[in-house]
Amino acid sequence: MTDCPPGMECPGDPCAIVIFGATGDLTKRKLLPSLYNLRLNGLLPREFALVGVVRKSMDDEAFRDLMSAEIREFATAPIDPALWADFRARLHCVAGDVGRPATFRQLGDRLAELDREHHTGGNALFYLATPPDAFGPLVRRLGEAGLTREEGSRWRRVVVEKPFGRDLDSARALNEEITSVLRERQLFRIDHYLGKETVQNILVFRFANGIFEPVWNRRYVDHVQITVAEELGVEGRGAYYEQSGVLRDIIQNHIFQVLTLVAMEPPSSLGAEAVRNEKVKVLDAIRPMQPEEILASTVRGQYGEGSIGGRRVPAYRQERDVSPRSNTDTYAAVRLHVDNWRWAGVPFYVRSGKRLARRETLVSIEFKSPPLMLFRAAGVESIERNRLEMRIQPDEGIALRMKAKIPGQAIRLADVDLRFGYQDFGPQIPATGYERLLYDCMVGDATLFHRWDNVEAAWRIATPVLDLWASLPARDFPNYTAGSWGPPAADELLRKDGRKWVNPS
Ligand code: BG6
Repeated sequence: MTDCPPGMECPGDPCAIVIFGATGDLTKRKLLPSLYNLRLNGLLPREFALVGVVRKSMDDEAFRDLMSAEIREFATAPIDPALWADFRARLHCVAGDVGRPATFRQLGDRLAELDREHHTGGNALFYLATPPDAFGPLVRRLGEAGLTREEGSRWRRVVVEKPFGRDLDSARALNEEITSVLRERQLFRIDHYLGKETVQNILVFRFANGIFEPVWNRRYVDHVQITVAEELGVEGRGAYYEQSGVLRDIIQNHIFQVLTLVAMEPPSSLGAEAVRNEKVKVLDAIRPMQPEEILASTVRGQYGEGSIGGRRVPAYRQERDVSPRSNTDTYAAVRLHVDNWRWAGVPFYVRSGKRLARRETLVSIEFKSPPLMLFRAAGVESIERNRLEMRIQPDEGIALRMKAKIPGQAIRLADVDLRFGYQDFGPQIPATGYERLLYDCMVGDATLFHRWDNVEAAWRIATPVLDLWASLPARDFPNYTAGSWGPPAADELLRKDGRKWVNPS
């Protein structure tokens, strides 16, 4: 890793980034704009090259033209012509069938040439932005071609996109296949939620402020809610989504990661192993659910047609590449228990859905009510609990909801918010969330990536739910209207516990 004084931001190590799936959606929407943003912020090394591996026959110039058209559409910051010209000249492509060893030999030769041309130090980061069934074979072929071998200070790393497997057994098989070629420290299992500023802020909020940690436990917290609500539908990804569903797509990875940051013990340092050790302890402490408990603690849903923001949208079953009788979950709500000393008895309610009323990712910590209702004599019968809201997106910020007296003779109470908004830091270059993660790969910092035991623990929780759902196909799909807050049964799940979801108005 580059020597960089603590607290400073220095460019990443010299390297070539090789993208498999370079003409795909992820490259144009996230990877290319993020790399450009890193360049803009001076965090991309000067000695840098990008190689797109593409199926169609294409030369460097054609690839550069394609990327230039895509950056114009998807950049999150204005394009600086001089900077882009320099960036563009570092774009290269290797065209070939990734099923054939010859393509990998060609890639190896190209990397050697680029090392001479751009002084990349032989370092290479292989980014697998491909459908998941290609992960194992690609790593195997990279290994067979000698491209994953590290020598001296030369590093070779591989970024694997999600989903990492589709259940516990397939994830274990994929892991065995990949780790027969790569060492764990060469492997970066990415979760773009961990690249979001406000997700990272959960750690800062908890461990850089002395006043919250003492109340961050079962004595003071009534329950925790984590919501990832999307207005989007499956956006042309019907074929993928039919194999996935929301439990695999969002809950098993993004939501579980956010949950671990909320629930973990203070790590002994911010080092990758220390943080990831604490995170896995949380997942290990989540109570495994037997079938009866799964039925009582989970709700699944699928959207019917409806309208969002005044626009009519079709039902899930009418989307392209989706079966008209599909049983895929586009919504799920789950009540979890973290059975450890800190959280015993505190439910964690998590939910996510597509085509909901509003895009909103929110962590809400609801504190216990005061022990005595002092204001009953003044006619106040019940008061809502204090609530700390950490808003991950959009309108990133933190709010603490409290009670205050409404001015006047009578004692009347109102809810008021103490608020902090991220915009208070001033204008920022809108980030994709991948900048930080790509940078961390270049400097070899795996803190924000899934370690294998994390992935395994998350599948251990999700797999029994998926299995039970598969054995009992839902009979009431579609059971929520697009543009609503999900199926009524999800409200019932909390109502039975005397609680309710925090739905932004
Ligand atoms: C991806 C899912 O991981 O996250 C998508 O595959 C989802 O289905 C997306 O839309 C949501 O990400 P974000 O950053 O927009 O909340």
